[in-house]
Amino acid sequence: MIDIHTHVMPGIDDGSESMDMSLQMLAIAAESGVHTIVATPHCNIPDEYENYAGDEMMSLWRQLESAAAEAQIPVKLCRGMEIFATEALPELLTERRVWTINDTKYFLLEFSFGEDPDFCRYILRKASDLGFRPIIAHPERYFFVQDDPELAYEFCVSGYGLQVNKGSLMGRFGPGPKRTADLILDHGLCACIASDAHRPYERSTFMTDLRDYLEEEYGEAYMRLLLEENPARILSGRDLLGFEPIPFR
Ligand SMILES: [Fe+2]
Repeated sequence: MIDIHTHVMPGIDDGSESMDMSLQMLAIAAESGVHTIVATPHCNIPDEYENYAGDEMMSLWRQLESAAAEAQIPVKLCRGMEIFATEALPELLTERRVWTINDTKYFLLEFSFGEDPDFCRYILRKASDLGFRPIIAHPERYFFVQDDPELAYEFCVSGYGLQVNKGSLMGRFGPGPKRTADLILDHGLCACIASDAHRPYERSTFMTDLRDYLEEEYGEAYMRLLLEENPARILSGRDLLGFEPIPFR
């Protein structure tokens, strides 16, 4: 499996608190069947986690990569960021002040939970017009998508990738995210599922339970598409595959 959304970089957001914790998270990922993991620290959250690309971020990422290699954890690490949507986003992308996923045109985009859908449409369109491909982080957790799940259909057919969280689908964020995650999967709107892991044991990098759940509920082909095929396409900048999106009645 490939996990494209994790907070495994130590000490820079609300994810891993230390290098030791990061290594624990990577080891758990590897043991649970993940062979490639993208570190996506929060970025561009004003006054909270800015974490813009630069020497400091690169040096921390290299430290993590060499610590993982030294600990012989069999997982490949890639770079990314969970970039919070503000008016500044288009400029940040073009000036390369944020990391896209594995240096491709794909980038992981986070919205405020109560964002105005028109602002989402504006930012998504603007980033696409600049040649970038947004992957929307956990759409099922946003109140505006829970209130109007047809937005998920609109985003999908507009060419944006929808990344659902493991915890939402497994019911760990409550009924709203669970119901919305189910709708997104049942309507063929999901590009991939990721852990969005923050800790070794809670909101963790462990993925075996998710793989088993998907295989049981949706079959092997859909499971492979969401946990391996599309994430691999994102990492290499290729187009996403999917089933025909089903409109809401
Ligand atoms: Fe996240």
